[in-house]
Amino acid sequence: MTLDPTFQVFLGDCRDRVERALDHWLPAASTIPTRLHEAMRYATLGDGKRVRPVLVYAAGHALGARPDCLDAAACAVELIHAYSLVHDDLPAMDDDDLRRGRATCHKAFDEATAILAGDALQTLAFKVLCEDNDLCVDRGSRLRMIDEMAHAAGSRGMAGGQALDMDATGREIDLAHLENLHIHKTGALILASVRLGALAAGAATDPRMAALERYAKCIGLAFQVHDDVLDVEGDTSVLGKTRGKDAAAEKATYPALIGLDAAREMAAQLVAEAMENLGGFDEKADPLRQLAHYIVGRKR
Ligand code: IPE
Ligand code: IPE
Ligand code: MG
Ligand code: MG
Ligand code: MG
Repeated sequence: MTLDPTFQVFLGDCRDRVERALDHWLPAASTIPTRLHEAMRYATLGDGKRVRPVLVYAAGHALGARPDCLDAAACAVELIHAYSLVHDDLPAMDDDDLRRGRATCHKAFDEATAILAGDALQTLAFKVLCEDNDLCVDRGSRLRMIDEMAHAAGSRGMAGGQALDMDATGREIDLAHLENLHIHKTGALILASVRLGALAAGAATDPRMAALERYAKCIGLAFQVHDDVLDVEGDTSVLGKTRGKDAAAEKATYPALIGLDAAREMAAQLVAEAMENLGGFDEKADPLRQLAHYIVGRKR
């Protein structure tokens, strides 16, 4: 897809910012235990799209925040995401060999190291939210951000969604169940990215928060529907992960349940609905608007 040039610059700037922050917070690979630290850096600093950090910056930008106030939240959501991918790829879960165009963490290192790297990436996310000095909010707001991150990553958020995903594998489930699964395993962290960006912008009581949340819920579901579509029609070398794994593993996905065309149509409709919720925002929300289109137009 061709990206709007202004948005392309925004994307590049956000990716640079969060990658600098990640590099800063991740322990050096030379620090003992070196194998664990190497694995944490390997899993995080590879070729990710950084969609969740970009969402943090885009939500903060829409509400007038400076980028340096948003680095902690951007870094934290990407650390949780990187951890979720490491564990998602383990033999006990999706058993994948390829991630971000190279060997998955447990293949490049070993299973025990991958489990521990995931554990440590998760706790590092909370350390960043606790300690970052550029996060320009009061202690109460900082605590609220930590609480929201914990909720989004936990059993009533991403980890819960992953449990539903494992439970649904090889079974037939209905559309409502599938939607609930996707909303949790992927939507929760995407919603948290927008919420944390807004909270870091000092917008906890902004009347537009509800609209922003509805936007986030729509693109969160659209993101996973499109991920399911890419697993069917994508190209392994572009995706950076092995195409066709969902069908092979009998995963519960939108293409499997409603067909490829209906899944594509649904993702497009969700993006249209997401856009309607940004009516109360000026041009500072353009990155959020562009991001919604990017999420369902991407090839990887
Ligand atoms: C993959 O997420 C896992 C899902 C929730 C679908 P991304 O597609 O954002 O993966 P990276 O971070 O770009 O590798
Ligand atoms: C993973 O969903 C969602 C996570 C919480 C990591 P998938 O299992 O579909 O993600 P990919 O396709 O392996 O990236
Ligand atoms: Mg999975
Ligand atoms: Mg997977
Ligand atoms: Mg997938």
